[in-house]
This record gives sequence, structure tokens and C-alpha cells, in this order.
Amino acid sequence: MEVVITKDSLSASAKAADLVAKAVRSKPDSVLGLATGGTPLELYKRLINMHKNEGLDFSKVKTFNLDEYIGLKPEDRQSYNYFMRENFFSHVNIPDENINIPDGMTANIPSFCKEYEEKIKRAGGIDLQILGIGSDGHIGFNEPTSSLASRTRIKTLTQKTVCDNARFFGGDKSLVPLHVITMGIGTIMDAKTIVLLAFGKNKAEAVAKMIEGPITSMVPASALQFHPRTKVFIDRDASEKLVNTSYYDWVFERKPEWQKDI
Ligand code: F6R
Repeated sequence: MEVVITKDSLSASAKAADLVAKAVRSKPDSVLGLATGGTPLELYKRLINMHKNEGLDFSKVKTFNLDEYIGLKPEDRQSYNYFMRENFFSHVNIPDENINIPDGMTANIPSFCKEYEEKIKRAGGIDLQILGIGSDGHIGFNEPTSSLASRTRIKTLTQKTVCDNARFFGGDKSLVPLHVITMGIGTIMDAKTIVLLAFGKNKAEAVAKMIEGPITSMVPASALQFHPRTKVFIDRDASEKLVNTSYYDWVFERKPEWQKDI
């Protein structure tokens, strides 16, 4: 796991955006795994800007979103489908047929989830997966005690996640759907490269447990310690509970020239 601590969330997002742009430029038909939430917003803004001003072309890119609330239609403003269109897809040139988001209205959840997994496989697997992290250590919506080998399936949100996400529902936690479809931890672990972003003091504990704690389903993100190519971009606030901070800075400052680009 490469841990990069930046002075603020803007510089972390800039680094992550450069990485995504580089991946898309070197493999125009890249398969991207995408996240919603507050964390990747600046990353999406930067990618939109690169598309509009630097010719970053998404016309062959395929995308798979991590998760969706069950019971919300794509046109519901709180759905992740709506979020992605508003904040990214409607501003870049990814063909509609290349966009995949779990269907929160599906009549048959198990068969939808199976087909989602198969679709990822048929696309050649996810080249680069963007992740945020929940304050309880979830990735996707894999809440604590999720199987570390799990695949796309239904999950029930923890009360902590419901409270954290109420801000997207006008602060009313009774409006947050309790059930979601999420890629599993096993699905996420199959991505060739993972880029995880985390900002703010609220994430500091989860970040420390993910990077330096034991691997445990109580902290689903800790499974990433097994992933061969995960880059974590965090701001100083989110790094506050790490023990090895100065080592991560030391490593980053001394990266061999040939490694700086990968
Ligand atoms: C979103 C997702 C979640 C979020 C996490 C952090 O698609 O899968 O794991 O990344 O809940 O959310 P924010 O970024 O809003 O703090």
C-alpha cells in the first residue's frame, strides 16, 4: 500500500486525477470503478476540466459504480445514479451504454448482482478502482463484518453510515434507505489498481485502522493490505492517527525517478 499524505484535499484530488488521466491516456478503453459521496467530487471536477480543456477522451472508457440505494429510482436526486450523472457523466463523453450502476429498483436483486459481476468480468475486469472510506471503515457499502471475499450483493447499512449519509437527505436520517446493492470486498480486490481517497479528521481513525491495524472484517478497508497495488491519498487531518506518518513522507520524498510516474 502506498500512502501519500498531502497538505490538503485539493492536492490529493489533483494527484488522483492525474493518475486516472494517465491510465485513460495509456489505455483509452480503461475500465474504471467509481465511487460517489463527498470525497471524489473534486477528483471528478478535475477530470471534467481535463476533458474540456486538455482533450482527455472518455469515449472508449467503461465504468462500474460501487453501489446504489435500494428503492431509489435513477431520477431520485439522492440516488447514486443521479449523483454520477450530475457530477461526472453529463460533463464527459462516456457513452451511456458503457456506464454501469447497480439498479436500486431491480425486481430480482440476487440475479442482478450475479449479472453485475459477470458484466465486470466480460469487460475484462476493473483497471482502476476509485474508493472513499466510511468513518466505520467501510469500502463500497461493505459494512463491518462483511466477508472479505464478498461479491456484489445486498447489504444493510449500519446506523453510523445512515447518520453519516443523512447529510445527503436534508439531514433527515429516516429518509436514508437502509438497504443497498454494493460490489463486494472480493469484487473490489480484483481491481488491478485501487486509488483510495480520504479527507478530514472524521476519517482519521478508519484510515489508521485500514493502513496500520490488523486485517479484520471489522474494518473492511483493512483487506486492502492484501492488495498488490493500492494507492492511498489522504490529507493531513485524515492522517492524524497514523503512527508511521514520517515514514510515509520519507518514502514519498525519496521515490526513485522511474517510480514517480506509476
Ligand atoms: C460511495 C461509497 C462509500 C463512500 C464512503 C465515504 O459510493 O462506496 O464507501 O466512499 O461512504 O463517503 P464520503 O465520501 O461521502 O465521506
